[in-house]
Amino acid sequence: MRYSRIIGTGSYLPETVLTNAELEQRVDTTDQWIRERTGIRERRVAAPDQTTCDLAEMAARRAMEAAGVDPSEIDLLILGTTTPDLVFPSTACLLQTRLGLGECGAFDLNAACSGFIYGLSVADQFIRAGTAEKVLVIGAETLTRMLDWNDRSTCVLFGDGAGAVVLAADEKPGIMSTHIHANGHYSDLLGTSVGVSRGFKAEERGGVRVKMKGNEVFKVAVNTLGRIVDETLAANNLEKHDLDWLIPHQANLRIIKATARKLDMSMDQVIVTVDQHGNTSAASVPLALDEAVRSGRVKRGEKLLLEAFGGGFTWGAALVRY
Ligand code: UT7
Repeated sequence: MRYSRIIGTGSYLPETVLTNAELEQRVDTTDQWIRERTGIRERRVAAPDQTTCDLAEMAARRAMEAAGVDPSEIDLLILGTTTPDLVFPSTACLLQTRLGLGECGAFDLNAACSGFIYGLSVADQFIRAGTAEKVLVIGAETLTRMLDWNDRSTCVLFGDGAGAVVLAADEKPGIMSTHIHANGHYSDLLGTSVGVSRGFKAEERGGVRVKMKGNEVFKVAVNTLGRIVDETLAANNLEKHDLDWLIPHQANLRIIKATARKLDMSMDQVIVTVDQHGNTSAASVPLALDEAVRSGRVKRGEKLLLEAFGGGFTWGAALVRY
C-alpha cells in the first residue's frame, strides 16, 4: 500500500503581540471576558508590510528544513488561506517562486478555518494515487487585515500566523484517513458581506470585514466536531482511548474542551495554543502541530486526531500516525 506521511513541520508567527489589555483600550471589552469566553490571552499581528505569502514562506522553509527536503523535490504546493495577497495570481504561485520550487502544481484552497485539513486531504489523495511524491501543505492567514476594530464581538478573536507540513509517500501510514465536509446553508453565520463578484459598495470600500453570529456558530461547531471525531474513529476501527493527542482548531477553548470531553481525553492530551495565538483560521492546526512536535510532546508513532471547523460551514478531520 502507498500512504502519505508527515516528514517535517514548520510554523511562523509575526513578532507583534496584541494583548487583551491593549484591546481593552480599543473596544468595550475586558481581559476577563475574553479569557473566560474564549481562552485567548494574546494574539500576533502581521507587520504592515508583511503579507500572507511572507508568513507562509517562513513556515514552509522551516518545514522543508525539518524534513531535510530540497525545494526541487516538492511536486505539489497547496496553500490553505482566506486572506490571499492578491485575488490572483494565487498566493501559492507567488510562494512557489519565492521558495525556488520547480514548475510544480500550486494552488490556494479556500475552506476558511478548515483550509489546512482540506489541503491535507487533497495532498493525501495525490500521494496515495501515485501522482505526487512530496507535497507542501500550508495554512497561512493575515485575518487581522479584515477585522472591524470597532466590533468587539470579532476583533478580539483572531490573529495572524502560518503553519506548514511536508508530506511524502511511504509504505506505512502516515495519514490514516481524512474526512472533509461542508454545508453552505450556514453561509450567513460567518463570513464577509462583500467580495469581488458581488462588488464593493462605496461605503464599504474600506475593506472586507469578518462578520459572525458567534453564539450560533459556537453551537453548530460543538455538535459538528463531535460528529466528525466519531466518524474518524469509526473509519479506522479505533476507540477513543486509542488516540494519543487531539490537535484541534484553535477558535475557542470552550469548544476545544467540549471535543476533549466527547473523546474522554484529559486536557494533558490536547494541544492548546489559542491562549497565545487566538484564532488563526487555516493556520491554527499546523501551528499547533508544529509547536507540539518542536516541544517534544508529540513523538513519532503516536496517533493524532486533527480537526477543524470554519466559515462555509466547512469542517474536517485527519487521523495521523505521526
Ligand atoms: O473559527 C471559525 C469558527 N468560529 C468559532 O468557532 C467561534 C464560535 N463562537 C465563539 O467562540 C463564541 O460564541 C464567542 C467567543 C464569539 C462569543 O462568546 P459567547 O459566550 O457565545 O457570547 P455571546 O455572543 O452570546 O455574547 C454574550 C454577551 C453579549 O452581551 P449581552 O447581549 O448578553 O448583553 C455580547 O454583546 O457578551 C457580549 N460580548 C462581549 N462582551 C465583552 C461580545 N463580545 C464581547 C467582548 N467583550 N469582546
